[in-house]
Amino acid sequence: MKLHMNKGRSIGKRDIMLYGHFIEHFHRQIYGGVYDPGNKLSDEDGLRTDVIDAMRKIKVPILRWPGGCFVSSYHWKDAVGEKRTPMFDKAWRVEDPNTFGTDEYVKMCEKIGCEPYICTNAGTGTAEEMSDWVEYCNLEYEGKYAKWRIENGYEKPHNVKYWSIGNENYGYWEIGAKCAEEWGRLVKESAKMIKHVDPTTELTAAALTDIHWNIELLENSGEFLDWISIHEYWDGINQTNDYADYEQTMAYTYRIGHSIDEVRGLLTAMKLEKKIKIAFDEWNLRGWYHPNVHTIKQGVTKEEYLYPRDKNDDNTKYTMADAVFTACFLNELNRNCDIVGMANYAPIVNTRGCIFTHKDGIVLRSTYHVFDMYVNLLGDIVHDSWNECQVVKEMKAKSGEMKPVEMVDAIVTSFSDKAGYAVAAVNKESDSELPITLDFEGEGNVVISYISGDSTEAYNDIDHEGVMIIKEELGEFHQGMEIMLKPHSVNIIQVGVR
Ligand code: AHR
Repeated sequence: MKLHMNKGRSIGKRDIMLYGHFIEHFHRQIYGGVYDPGNKLSDEDGLRTDVIDAMRKIKVPILRWPGGCFVSSYHWKDAVGEKRTPMFDKAWRVEDPNTFGTDEYVKMCEKIGCEPYICTNAGTGTAEEMSDWVEYCNLEYEGKYAKWRIENGYEKPHNVKYWSIGNENYGYWEIGAKCAEEWGRLVKESAKMIKHVDPTTELTAAALTDIHWNIELLENSGEFLDWISIHEYWDGINQTNDYADYEQTMAYTYRIGHSIDEVRGLLTAMKLEKKIKIAFDEWNLRGWYHPNVHTIKQGVTKEEYLYPRDKNDDNTKYTMADAVFTACFLNELNRNCDIVGMANYAPIVNTRGCIFTHKDGIVLRSTYHVFDMYVNLLGDIVHDSWNECQVVKEMKAKSGEMKPVEMVDAIVTSFSDKAGYAVAAVNKESDSELPITLDFEGEGNVVISYISGDSTEAYNDIDHEGVMIIKEELGEFHQGMEIMLKPHSVNIIQVGVR
């Protein structure tokens, strides 16, 4: 493939929040994940220092919490202060001890160095309960909730800027689901109350690629919203756990940004594209495995609905398919950085996350290295680029359909604070190298960093490292330079970066 780039024309400066993450009170993400009091690797606040360090290395800019479906029956007041009231989490059907609440979360964000982003309960919760939460977090001292925070030892406001009104309240699986009309009204009243507490907050609400739902939402509360949230899990296996194989996964990269295109179209049609940005605040190739809960008929025995969740911990399943797909979507987010200002990989720890914890340490899965390379090696200015001689292959999707998939996915970036270019290039081929020709002006040393593993099934585990970042010097750059991309690989090619 020949890659061209327009030096003078950039799509925009991508927001670092495109590399955001999400963590939910589900399985071992919080308890036994990042929060593990008493573990030798945990600090005085019960937070795993090895996990926090790994998050800092990939510069987590924003972390959405506490859910997901979990939040739609969650009452924040049960998890602050001395007296913590254990709750039965109606979404995931387990008890939550509520020992990890708002204050522990904000402290964790401070240690990571990221923005907190709280998702509120629009299922069993009320607009008042949401705005009370904002009072607790953001008011100096006014009112009973700010005073409660101070009483609990937090003199300074937590200053939580980003708030989501609800989660997937359009879904039958969500506790307290709403119809479009109800949703539009609730979001409006909730946004009004939150902005009356703190007008500097930035608000989003759950949206869909469904015209009717979004029009109701935006006509009712577009003037109050700063963002609109969409979610996507391409390999929807939360009931079956039957993973798409490498080819099927590559078929998912066909029109990988379809939902962004559809929501962009609607925002433009409603003349809101300059006011409201997209927050792609839950995404992962793989749906989480939790059988017999997102179903009408609920599992009865724990064997039916609880213990199977442990299968999410099988590290051998997080391969180069996950890494290559993740890189393709990060490319798509960068290509749409003019309208997508935030994205949250779901989740960051355990389940399908990029960091796996065990009692003696962590495993950095293949996807972790993708974030490491994109955050630390790629530029923040996304250039308008196009390609020629693209290799297109028919790939068989899980549905059995054939998809015409472009085998090389590449973007070109430069830096707002230094010289040089950085190209992100993904070779989706399962067993052959592919050339990329960099047909643009540039100068200086060329360095390539890549992950590929020795097969599409390469993975990392406690005593097994099949995927790691390899760095190679390729010498002096010249226009038309051809670089061979390894099969099933994710590459960052830096040209004269200094
Ligand atoms: O499978 C995890 C769930 O996926 C999240 O809780 C929810 O927001 C999404 O449907």
